[in-house]
Amino acid sequence: MSENVRVLITEEEVEKRVREMGEEISRDYQGEAVHLVSVLKGGVFFTCELAKRLAVPVSLDFMSVSSYGDKTTSSGVVKVVKDLDEPIEGKNVLVVEDIVDSGRTLRYLLENLKSRGPKSLRLCTLLDKPERRVTDVHVDYTGFEIPDQFVVGYGLDYMQKYRNLPYVGVVELDG
Ligand code: IMP
Ligand code: MG
Repeated sequence: MSENVRVLITEEEVEKRVREMGEEISRDYQGEAVHLVSVLKGGVFFTCELAKRLAVPVSLDFMSVSSYGDKTTSSGVVKVVKDLDEPIEGKNVLVVEDIVDSGRTLRYLLENLKSRGPKSLRLCTLLDKPERRVTDVHVDYTGFEIPDQFVVGYGLDYMQKYRNLPYVGVVELDG
């Protein structure tokens, strides 16, 4: 069986949207610093591109969580694999994710971070699949809403492959 990746959002479209999001976020945080919490591994590509478009002071930390479940659905039971290096108390935390799907991972993550006393806590995601949501998660900044399709590229993987694609594509299995 072979796989084929069909382009869903081109490199140019992603770049344009990330620039717009950077401008919007910079306006919203004007006069304040923002502390980006990038969710490993998928959120890293988007985090770097977004960070370059922010006109306010930026600091950065990383967190890695894994959800128990099969490859394509999460169970809602989340484990912290790598915690933040620094406390977030009193900081304007902006969580940066690649995609919100069922919402379970983010729901857990946001509650976990909230308990640490940040000054503010918001969520920014490159992609959102609203049709798939099973738990309520408030997304403050969304790049693109996409249909219920399994996507790769720009940080997103299919069995650890395709994270490095500069566009967002849909994996098609044929054969
Ligand atoms: P959630 O907890 O169901 O919202 O799942 C979030 C995680 O599932 C994301 O951070 C991704 O790692 C993974 N995921 C969900 N949908 C996709 C997809 O279409 N492609 C690749 N990974 C996905
Ligand atoms: Mg992720």
